[in-house]
Amino acid sequence: MNEQLAAPVGTALDRFIHQKQEQFPFATGELSQLLRDIALAGKIVNREINRAGLINITGSHGIQNVQGEEQQKLDVIANVRFIRALRNGGEVCGIISEEEDELIDTGKPEGKYVVAIDPLDGSSNIDVNVSIGTIFSIYRRLSEQGTPVQERDVLQVGNKQVAAGYLLYGSSTMLVYTTGYGVHGFTYEPSLGEFFLSHPNMTIPTSSNIYSCNEGNSREFPAEVNAYLDYCKDKKYSARYIGSLVADFHRNLLKGGIYLYPSTKKAPQGKLRLMYECNALAYIVEQAGGKATDGSRRILDIEPTELHERCPLYIGSEEMVDKVEEFLHKEQLEPSLV
Ligand code: AHG
Ligand code: MN
Ligand code: MN
Repeated sequence: MNEQLAAPVGTALDRFIHQKQEQFPFATGELSQLLRDIALAGKIVNREINRAGLINITGSHGIQNVQGEEQQKLDVIANVRFIRALRNGGEVCGIISEEEDELIDTGKPEGKYVVAIDPLDGSSNIDVNVSIGTIFSIYRRLSEQGTPVQERDVLQVGNKQVAAGYLLYGSSTMLVYTTGYGVHGFTYEPSLGEFFLSHPNMTIPTSSNIYSCNEGNSREFPAEVNAYLDYCKDKKYSARYIGSLVADFHRNLLKGGIYLYPSTKKAPQGKLRLMYECNALAYIVEQAGGKATDGSRRILDIEPTELHERCPLYIGSEEMVDKVEEFLHKEQLEPSLV
């Protein structure tokens, strides 16, 4: 038999989710259905992204989101697609999205879950055919089922996530997620319209020689961060920075590395959002054996106070995150610039 025919087709996402659910006798299947809803919306967004240049959906939408950032047309499309899928599914009572100022009540008070989502991550890369993504976190609601969703349902600490994941629209499209039992990656087969298990039980190398950081901001960084970046250069590490968090994170997850988005003079809390960027990736990286901090606190232990709050992020291979923390806490260095 030729090699291609001998290769197994592999496990489709639906089957995998179903098998996992069967291991929990009391599981009701709602979380499984929610993950399927996200995967379906991901396929639709993937389709829109693939033909964006042909159907006039690149470029700016002409308004700013709550972060003061210009929304791209695809930001808006992805936002609508995911919210619609989550609303129709019925398992979700509330959503927070990067693209929406307020908590969204889905009108499904029976829904047991809430979702925090960055519908399209890496917007600046949309128009230039570079990898972009979607990031999501899922929590069990705190208020009683059957009642309207409340802000405290979504303002939960990251260690309460029941699942988190991302879609990466790259050279291939992938879905990577965890429910707290390891990290699993699926690759999309467009001709079959299915995600197949391609990366079971993903683990991140404990160390590597890749650092990912927007060094254009280095004049604004604390002195301790610049000292660490000098250390990376002394060690002849490779700099790899795409500017799409999901893509930079995914590469480092596979190859090992550290991604850092420190505080700056202009943005003392950094740029990235705790609820729909940092928490999900922190959960995934820890499940894969890595680490995520804001420089002093474990990301997953930060008690959120606002839907759109930001935090500095140091995430990736355990030994590399330990090393940057060592630099951040060195007392003999100049006092921080920030
Ligand atoms: P988003 O497109 O969802 O607003 O996120 C952009 C984020 C993140 O994806 C990326 O790592 C970072 O912004 C890049 O920021 P800089 O351009 O400041 O490097
Ligand atoms: Mn983002
Ligand atoms: Mn975004």
